[in-house]
Amino acid sequence: MLQRLDPAAATLRLFFEGAPIAARPGDSVAAALLAAGADCFRTTPLRGARRAAFCMMGVCFDCLVEIDGIANRQACLTPVAEGMQVRRQHDAGDGA
Ligand code: FES
Repeated sequence: MLQRLDPAAATLRLFFEGAPIAARPGDSVAAALLAAGADCFRTTPLRGARRAAFCMMGVCFDCLVEIDGIANRQACLTPVAEGMQVRRQHDAGDGA
């Protein structure tokens, strides 16, 4: 499990699956979720396998989440914002 070196520096609050998560300005959504202990960002369309951020640089697409109602957002490339609503993405993110 990942941990922040300085947890007191977290000053923003976003929500993952409705639960509040502390983050720092400049964090990516993926970094904030990992620091909060999230181990599943999405499930795959064919087998429903659990995935979480892997490359942290926009290549693998294992970090796809729904952010503020918009699916297929790469959590590793999206900076956090106060009050952001993040949800785990299932299937292809199209509700199918
Ligand atoms: S973690 Fe690989 S694209 Fe985001």
